[in-house]
Amino acid sequence: MLDELLTDEKCFNWDEFYSDRDKKIPFFINFPDENLASYFEKGYVSTGKALELGCGPGRNAIYLAEKGFVVDAVDLSIEALEWAGERAKERNASVNFLSRNIFELEFSEGTYDLVYDSGCFHHIAPHRRMSYIKLVMKALKPGGYFAITCFVEGGKLGGSAISDLEVYKLRSLQGGLGFTEEKLKKIFHEFEVVEIRRMREVSENEELFGVEGLWAGLFQKGSL
Ligand SMILES: C[S@@+](CC[C@H](N)C(=O)[O-])C[C@H]1O[C@@H](n2cnc3c(N)ncnc32)[C@H](O)[C@@H]1O
Repeated sequence: MLDELLTDEKCFNWDEFYSDRDKKIPFFINFPDENLASYFEKGYVSTGKALELGCGPGRNAIYLAEKGFVVDAVDLSIEALEWAGERAKERNASVNFLSRNIFELEFSEGTYDLVYDSGCFHHIAPHRRMSYIKLVMKALKPGGYFAITCFVEGGKLGGSAISDLEVYKLRSLQGGLGFTEEKLKKIFHEFEVVEIRRMREVSENEELFGVEGLWAGLFQKGSL
């Protein structure tokens, strides 16, 4: 019922969004997130099984596969997944791309060592958050990591500062919700915070994706 209220999101067509690959969209670049690379450098993740939520054209899923992870990557846009499949083929990377709504995923409890989300969660309506958290909790093994990049509230990329109530009054997520560090800690309080920081703006020669206006959060599921 509440999904029906959010007309902007219902009408937004991700397939159309991805149909022009030459558009100047920052994350159309084919490099992994700088924070994801840093988790390898810092030794938080090494190998195992990963699930990427809202993988789009697959840059992070492919990177994880190249680093040795067995990767399931899900997105609801067929256009994005076709692009992701082409990119994976070019790199000879093996990723299990799934054309699905994240809330319709099926897996056994405790399947994954890492759940990664780069830019999907801020498009998820507040009433879906409990299902999102349940999904991540169920997906992770005890001690597994959940990493997320999402809009900074009122940041350079325009993360909307509206309240959860305003989302339903305005019937819109205003292009993507923005968060403060406190909000992220509150929403994901069932996880242990490993690191919450701003994404680092990268220089051109780094072969990484990093822009201002995004949070990079790393959380861990308790071991018990
Ligand atoms: C901002 S894009 C980010 C794409 C990719 N993670 C990247 O950074 O290159 C958000 C992606 O989330 C996907 N998405 C949004 N809601 C979704 C849902 N409920 N289930 C699956 N995918 C979803 C969209 O189709 C889109 O590809």
